[in-house]
Amino acid sequence: MKKILIALIVFALAPSTSFAGPKIEVLHWWTSGGEAAALKVLKDDFAANGGEWLDMPVTGGGGDAANVTLKARIVAGDPPSASQIKGPTIQEYDQEGVVAPYNIDAIAQAEGWDSLLDPMIAAVHKCQNNSGPYCAAPVNIHRIDWMWANKEVFDNNNLSMPTTWDELNAAADTLKAAGIIPFAHGGQPWQDATVFEAVAMGVGGNNYYKNCFVKLQGYTDPGSPGRDWNVATGMVIEGKAGFQIMGDWAKGEFTAAGKSPGWDYMCVPTPSNNGYLYNVDSFIFYKTDDPDKVAGQKLLAKLMMGKNFQKVFNLYKGSIPARLDVPMDEFDDCAKASNADIKTAGASGGLVPSFAHGMAQGNTIKSALQDVITEHFNSDMSSVDAANALADTVLANM
Ligand code: GAL
Repeated sequence: MKKILIALIVFALAPSTSFAGPKIEVLHWWTSGGEAAALKVLKDDFAANGGEWLDMPVTGGGGDAANVTLKARIVAGDPPSASQIKGPTIQEYDQEGVVAPYNIDAIAQAEGWDSLLDPMIAAVHKCQNNSGPYCAAPVNIHRIDWMWANKEVFDNNNLSMPTTWDELNAAADTLKAAGIIPFAHGGQPWQDATVFEAVAMGVGGNNYYKNCFVKLQGYTDPGSPGRDWNVATGMVIEGKAGFQIMGDWAKGEFTAAGKSPGWDYMCVPTPSNNGYLYNVDSFIFYKTDDPDKVAGQKLLAKLMMGKNFQKVFNLYKGSIPARLDVPMDEFDDCAKASNADIKTAGASGGLVPSFAHGMAQGNTIKSALQDVITEHFNSDMSSVDAANALADTVLANM
């Protein structure tokens, strides 16, 4: 009896290493109305499969603040079990030795991710220089080079969506003359960089700053510095501003506000020669000894690449599925156009990774370039000085 009692006490006091169920701590920056609605699809799926989700949101569109928090946790030896991540940064963290490829590669193999993803997108999510095991999972493809406009405002001013940068400037002048803020913008470094890369891709050449980038700045309102992107989208939704250049997470805000494309708002890509700036949202999984978290990582990776999840999530998020086999018939015309254009761009060499959203470079050079662009957008820095500063920044980071 005494022995049994002692055994029971020892058992009760022993630290629990037993499996309690899948658990995951997710660090992300999806806090706007549209973003949160999309993420809820994943949280609900995770809970419905018996998982416990510990949410770690870091507000700030574009993820600059979230990336600083993530880096700090990694440096402190306390990474979350999963986090939002972009393209090349996956390899940076892998090289730091904090990523846990084998937890999810088995899922990726069992579910056949190689056959569900475009090979270029698949490679981005494989550790060991893009050719080892899968260590991250993609949930979507966002397009950056979009313009969003309020239909009523455009109709009332006899305007149609511009198809050239000159038409865009002319439309902005008409709106300005009518007393409407032409261009809803938030003056934050990543938003300035988002507009910059759309203009740079579409125009190129020596005069692009002067003709488009600088001119666009003159079409914003005095309240733009520091404004959050979804507040700027709200200005278009309410008809306080004519249009916005922003990735298609902006459509998530229109959707959350109950607006329909074609009726309430219009979407067209910014003018370019079949260019398509792409931005894939992914989640990466970090090393952990906790069996609940390992189970959580496996469950989350499996759910994220699920066929129905990728449909429902992307209907809310504004993006298109990363999986190639998701039917597009329930998507709206903006998403259908994105899905068609990505194929055209891919076939004609126009598929360009977004630097403003961390798809082309890691976070260090991205931030350095953003600093120059945002200074140019928000000061009287000349175009020549800005071009030289950009070149110097690239050289310094090579
Ligand atoms: C992007 C991200 C999108 C959206 C946006 C604004 O970098 O890929 O999913 O969240 O930031 O926050």
